[in-house]
Amino acid sequence: MNNPLDYNGKVALVTGAAAGMGLATAQAFAEAGAAVALADFKGDAVKAAAEKLAADGHKAIGIRCDVSDDSQVAAMVDRTVAEFGRLDAAFNNAGVMAKIAPIADGSREEWDRVIGINLRGVWTCMKHELRHMERQGSGAIVNNASVGALTGNPGIASYIASKHGVIGLTRTAALEYVKRGIRASSTPRLAAMSSRGTSKCIPKPQRTFPLAVPANRRKSLRRSCGFAVQAQATLSAMGSQWTVV
Ligand SMILES: NC(=O)c1ccc[n+]([C@@H]2O[C@H](COP(=O)([O-])OP(=O)(O)OC[C@H]3O[C@@H](n4cnc5c(N)ncnc54)[C@H](O)[C@@H]3O)[C@@H](O)[C@H]2O)c1
Repeated sequence: MNNPLDYNGKVALVTGAAAGMGLATAQAFAEAGAAVALADFKGDAVKAAAEKLAADGHKAIGIRCDVSDDSQVAAMVDRTVAEFGRLDAAFNNAGVMAKIAPIADGSREEWDRVIGINLRGVWTCMKHELRHMERQGSGAIVNNASVGALTGNPGIASYIASKHGVIGLTRTAALEYVKRGIRASSTPRLAAMSSRGTSKCIPKPQRTFPLAVPANRRKSLRRSCGFAVQAQATLSAMGSQWTVV
């Protein structure tokens, strides 16, 4: 069986790659052998991150992209394919938290901002990534959701709604594209486990790794904490034969 963590000769695209889980995942892709396009609306930071990877001997480019802007997303995917020739793996990770307010006090602008980045942004990224992957007849997409995709949370309705939406979008994409050689997965459980020490807040049944993480790696992954866990799980999910939503 192919090693799901070997990305030699593959091309990966990561959004929200200037910091946090996105940066950790881009670094993990590079270390696993992939050529990586790092995208973020913080252009200077993401270009600096890509330059650091390139200075360490990896293939990496930084792209300024706001995922809530359709034309910037199209350009981001086109630039990745123009630079590296193909697109094998996409981690749609860029996301924002909502300003805390009960639903009746929330503003339309804040709703549109959060949904525009967290949900419509993922849809737009998938749309353009899938077009390239379809032409290749292969590819894998992981959308970063949240434990908030599995449960409610008072005060952040737009965030919770956006992440529930990401799960529905991912499930639909998985069904639409599986026969075309493309898999779509999402990471709600892993995102929760790897986030800033919140794992104790997660109900026990949700503190499990998806099937995509090989059994012999689960124990060591559980021992570590932080974004590196998420990154390895994402690569594993992307590279394995399993679809996890
Ligand atoms: N950290 C957590 O506790 C946690 C838990 C569950 C899910 N998540 C999800 O994981 C993802 C990453 O979270 P993180 O903690 O690494 O966040 P982070 O804030 O550290 O990083 C997010 C990155 O996304 C970028 N970004 C924001 N809006 C963007 C846009 N419109 N276009 C392009 N880039 C944009 C930011 O500049 C930043 O670099 C998010 O989708 C988040 O909802 C995080």
